[in-house]
Amino acid sequence: MWAVEVVYATAKKFQGSCMTESSLFEQIAGEIYARGYCVYPNALPTELATALADEVRSRSEDQFRKAGIGRQDDHLKTEEIRRDEISWIDDSTAAGAQWLNWTGELQQAINRRLFLGLFSFESHFAHYRPGDFYKKHLDAFRGQQNRVLTVVTYLNPEWTPEDGGELLIYPEQGEEPMLRVAPEFGTLVVFLSEEFPHEVLPANCDRYSIAGWYRINSSDSQRIDPQS
Ligand code: OGA
Ligand code: MN
Repeated sequence: MWAVEVVYATAKKFQGSCMTESSLFEQIAGEIYARGYCVYPNALPTELATALADEVRSRSEDQFRKAGIGRQDDHLKTEEIRRDEISWIDDSTAAGAQWLNWTGELQQAINRRLFLGLFSFESHFAHYRPGDFYKKHLDAFRGQQNRVLTVVTYLNPEWTPEDGGELLIYPEQGEEPMLRVAPEFGTLVVFLSEEFPHEVLPANCDRYSIAGWYRINSSDSQRIDPQS
């Protein structure tokens, strides 16, 4: 609880203040360096969050597909772990291009500060219908040199505590969550993908988010990764 209060107090500085985008990115980089995660309410520029919120709701059903868990087509197993539907984001729409621009600037700030060598970024919209969840998981496994940093943001105006759907973030070891994040419009969460298990609690209404990952280039003579 203490950590949540500290983070929220910090974030207040960005609300309606003269804090520039680049100093927000510097702050995020500093927090990732210091403790590996951070949460900022109202981090996304309103115009960008609004454009993304409109876009996710305007995408048709067939642009979404059941999310997987990285194992081969074990549909039943997947259903036990996650129930959301996802739709990948690229720069073919104005909102997508604006989002990739914004996350590109964050990438640069983090690389400058942390020398992480973040190389590429991939992200998708996620739609959780009422009752949908994503059980406790890690986004990357140590040594795979793949997803390094996770970014999550929320596109739900007027979310209330009764709506549920919180993101719980756990310490690397331990069963008690250290952070509980309501999926409120414009809130941004960033954390090291290999270190923090997390889960999405069921919500009582439609819940829209974006999940994205920065990757490092782990190419060697045998393998090109990422492949694009
Ligand atoms: C994910 C994820 C969190 C959220 O897609 O891997 O953990 O709050 N999403 O939507
Ligand atoms: Mn995750």
